[in-house]
Amino acid sequence: MTVADSSDGPDATVGSGAIPEPEFAESTGSSEDTGRSERTRSTAGAASAEGQLDPSRLPGDAEVEASLRPRTLSEFVGQVRVREQLELVLSAAKLRGAVPDHILLAGPPGLGKTSLAMIIAAELGAAIRLTSGPALERAGDLAAMLSNLVEGDVLFIDEIHRIARPAEEMLYLAMEDFRVDVMVGKGPGATSIPLEIAPFTLVGATTRSGQLTSPLRDRFGFTAHMEFYSPAELLKVIIRSAGILGIALPPDAGAEIAKRSRGTPRIANRLLRRVRDFAEVRAGGVANLAVARAALKVYDVDELGLDRLDRAVLTALCKSFGGGPVGLTTLAVAVGEEPTTVEEVCEPFLVRLGMLARTPRGRIATPLAWSHLGLDPRSGVAFTGVLFDDDE
Ligand SMILES: Nc1ncnc2c1ncn2[C@@H]1O[C@H](COP(=O)(O)OP(=O)(O)OP(=O)(O)O)[C@@H](O)[C@H]1O
Ligand SMILES: [Mg+2]
Repeated sequence: MTVADSSDGPDATVGSGAIPEPEFAESTGSSEDTGRSERTRSTAGAASAEGQLDPSRLPGDAEVEASLRPRTLSEFVGQVRVREQLELVLSAAKLRGAVPDHILLAGPPGLGKTSLAMIIAAELGAAIRLTSGPALERAGDLAAMLSNLVEGDVLFIDEIHRIARPAEEMLYLAMEDFRVDVMVGKGPGATSIPLEIAPFTLVGATTRSGQLTSPLRDRFGFTAHMEFYSPAELLKVIIRSAGILGIALPPDAGAEIAKRSRGTPRIANRLLRRVRDFAEVRAGGVANLAVARAALKVYDVDELGLDRLDRAVLTALCKSFGGGPVGLTTLAVAVGEEPTTVEEVCEPFLVRLGMLARTPRGRIATPLAWSHLGLDPRSGVAFTGVLFDDDE
């Protein structure tokens, strides 16, 4: 492994052989951050007893994630479409002996964007340089990184939607012409010095591709849209992880964890570790289906992967408000949470499951929500009117 740069800076460089964990994203999160991850992280503790179902990376995940990261495209489970597309992009570039187009990896947290970025570099036999949008506050930070690139390098910018404007503008030229204009001096005497940079491949990752400006988005030759994983795919992830962690896990226990992991490998790996804890402490080290179920019960993760707060929201919606429509603020008060927690932590998954709908008149419970709670929509209806919040 070659470490060609000081890891104190906003970047770290590694050879393609060994891949360390990127630590930059956590350490550079600024206080004025309005991104999802920071807010989710601060509220997730309240959201689920232990935050086990928070798809963003929590303290304690980093070390184990390093050992569980797939290293090659063939080790990378699922994402069949994205994998095929990427294979073509990378193979074609290799055939031509050129650097591949810039690649954008878009999708929710924990689906494998960072893993894929590292795999791209490994498949190309290239070194990867890691940085993140929030770390590139000044254009100078980016200029320094770009000018250090060696031909064929992969530059990985995580959370690229959070890049500061001046750095973003510098990136346009760098992506298109492999050139940057560095401003020297200030005021009327300032001059711009053009600087050639080595042809490189930018790999950007974002959980919010909608927040990318269109000039930036347009400069990526290929966008990989990551999708949630099926339970069968998650089972493969879990079996692979269990092997690496040395856990003897029967397939039915793995399937049980997979079913409750919200389509997200990071959550699957985390729940696997909780089942291992439970097995070691209370079940003599045996992790079978009954042990997995008992462990997940302790962590309040139900059969569909809903946690305590998810169920509280659905219960309030059905029992107190007759299934809605009810405004977000009212619903949040009913469960004793901040509206943003309900909106950003609970609702996306409930909507995805088809249990809750967001309508212009407020939130409504679908028949699936009623049946999941074991309630009959016609009974136990406490209120059938329409509730609005002033803010909606
Ligand atoms: N396709 C996959 N196959 C096997 N394991 C995976 C896969 N995708 C993700 N993982 C596991 O999930 C963990 C989280 O993945 P990763 O850090 O790449 O997600 P991410 O999309 O970058 O998340 P974030 O948006 O929070 O940065 C990894 O440590 C890895 O173990
Ligand atoms: Mg990542």
